[in-house]
Amino acid sequence: MGQNIVLNMNDHGFTVVAFNRTVSKVDEFLAKEAKGTKVVGAHSLEEMCKLLKKPRRVMLLVKAGDAVDDFIEKLIPFLEKGDIIIDGGNSEYTDTNRRCKYLEEKGLLYVGSGVSGGEDGARYGPSLMPGGSEKAWPHIKDIFQSVAAKVGKDPCCEWVGPQGAGHFVKMVHNGIEYGDMQLICESYHLLKDALGMTQEEMADVFDEWNKGELESFLIEISRDILRFKDTDGKYLLPKIRDTAGQKGTGKWTAIASLEYGVPVTLIGEAVFARCLSAIQEERVHASTQIKGPENTKYTGDKKAFIEDVRKALYASKIVSYAQGFMLMRETAKELGWKLNFGGIALMWRGGCIIRSVFLGNIKHAFEKNPNLSNLLLDDFFKGEIQKCQASWRRVVASAVQLGIPTPAFSTALAFFDGYRSARLPANLIQAQRDYFGAHTYELLDKPGEFVHTNWTGHGGSVSSTTYQV
Ligand code: 6PG
Repeated sequence: MGQNIVLNMNDHGFTVVAFNRTVSKVDEFLAKEAKGTKVVGAHSLEEMCKLLKKPRRVMLLVKAGDAVDDFIEKLIPFLEKGDIIIDGGNSEYTDTNRRCKYLEEKGLLYVGSGVSGGEDGARYGPSLMPGGSEKAWPHIKDIFQSVAAKVGKDPCCEWVGPQGAGHFVKMVHNGIEYGDMQLICESYHLLKDALGMTQEEMADVFDEWNKGELESFLIEISRDILRFKDTDGKYLLPKIRDTAGQKGTGKWTAIASLEYGVPVTLIGEAVFARCLSAIQEERVHASTQIKGPENTKYTGDKKAFIEDVRKALYASKIVSYAQGFMLMRETAKELGWKLNFGGIALMWRGGCIIRSVFLGNIKHAFEKNPNLSNLLLDDFFKGEIQKCQASWRRVVASAVQLGIPTPAFSTALAFFDGYRSARLPANLIQAQRDYFGAHTYELLDKPGEFVHTNWTGHGGSVSSTTYQV
């Protein structure tokens, strides 16, 4: 990633000094990939800092965690007031909040930037999500917006906000990436097992889907993965062990959603689905012990079911993004950040892993109404979800009948039904809490007034105080 960003910056006319802890890698890079470019090599951090123009702009692309703190400490002695450190890794936003404060206290500027798009993105146009010390932005704007992916003429890079806002938005991007991947996997599972389709047939379906509302990088690569044959001429996909890895950014999104009390259920399920896949041995054992339904094949109209799955995927995806934006809205409120949601949709529209046509519609929704409280209330998305609703319900119901797990489709539908309910059964939870613990409840006609009832006649009338751990 680091090498590719350097080459990308070079292509756009910027002179870059490259450094790597393993100094020999710098020479190798200059002799191979960077041969004939204006890239300058440095063999120590001191040399690198001496070579840089002021204010120095140092971009780190190292593993998230301690490595970032180590580099920051090593850099500080060679930097002067007003110099800028940029962390382009997948750092946890709370770490970026801390580092930003720490460096600003020393008179330095700090930027935590989400960088998405993998190696290719880094080389030819990533999506960049910078946030932190705002004074740094004028010094890096031109470089960042030049190297970023473009949608038309618009760069997929804009200033996100203070402190760890850039890394926060990247974290939500990754959570949504987990959700999108899980939704595609559930579609694949249904096409493969409920309909018994071949790899080629499934690839054709994904190819078709990629021509409509679902057009996106992840659908496109899934089609290509389905078509890919190993050196022995057999499809590679069925040979891959079904245990999903994860580096933790999806988990962070789920943790943040619990932290801020936002029901980001689809990303949560996507993380848990990876965890369930990872306990493969246990699943293999359980599969010999526990029986599901007798009938595991869909017997209705195959073509109609494929279209139902497409619509279930689309509707669930709308819910997932609505939840992701709910999380960003709530966090911004809590932390006093001003996030531009239309701008975020544009940053994700191109260059990144979740890039899609769909994000153009989200951008449009927030442009039309920057104060839109929820994507599900936008006229366009309201209409789209209505068009999909019946199919979505049929798919979830069929999956349940056939014993095929669709946690993301199902949770999205449950959220949708909960969100559109004026009345939920939480009145019973409140009554139960008050019954066993005198936790009090509000009456519908007296909101804000908490009362306790002596439900049993011997519980007493003293109520507990309200607190949150
Ligand atoms: C990106 C990706 C990237 C992420 C990988 C792997 O935007 O380019 O989000 O940052 O690290 O997709 O993530 P997992 O290993 O957690 O699946």
